[in-house]
Amino acid sequence: MLNIALPKGRLGDKIYSLFSDVGLGCPSMNEDNRKLIFESSEKEIRYLLVKPSDVAIYVEHGAADIGVVGRDILLETKPDVYELLDLKIGKCSLAVAAKNGWIDDGGSLRVATKYPNVAQSYFSSQNRQIEIIKLNGSIELAPILGLSDVIFDIVETGTTLRENDLSVITTVIHSSARLIANKSRYQFKSAFIDNICRELEQRI
Ligand code: PRP
Repeated sequence: MLNIALPKGRLGDKIYSLFSDVGLGCPSMNEDNRKLIFESSEKEIRYLLVKPSDVAIYVEHGAADIGVVGRDILLETKPDVYELLDLKIGKCSLAVAAKNGWIDDGGSLRVATKYPNVAQSYFSSQNRQIEIIKLNGSIELAPILGLSDVIFDIVETGTTLRENDLSVITTVIHSSARLIANKSRYQFKSAFIDNICRELEQRI
């Protein structure tokens, strides 16, 4: 069995359709239930549905052989895995954003983010003093409530920023979904995994 960790949610649905399109569908995935493991013994694959930010942890520790994770998360957590393929879906960017009309006084910035490492490294490269305020979601609330000056967060369609009266100041990094593999599992299953990569690449 090849264990494949997929992120739960919108991105996971798109990725599963891509795998399905290259003949790696698993009929039980279409059932409306709360199961987290789906397998096809015929195709020798097992899908594990995990939180997007946990995919790389499953793969790094070998609980999954391969998985799909955003480049944003790889940059933040730097897992020891192989990055095999850019799937070119789930495209988004990491950007600095602030309330419309906010004026930068050039002093120390309070930055709310789910990406403390990437944010710190970006602002250090700009020689900018910052204080990180680590949040786990709804980052856009922070500048509205005065918890931070700016946010450093994912922008996909831009709707969340727009609807909360914020806008992008600088786009820092572009991200998309990446196929990753556990390093030692890849040695054992390279033929199977390489074949999947080839099929996916043609489809992309
Ligand atoms: C992400 C991100 C933004 C939003 C951007 O949040 O943190 O809030 O999506 O998408 P948009 O540009 O298409 O509006 P997510 O949906 O993951 O929820 P969260 O606030 O719980 O992190």
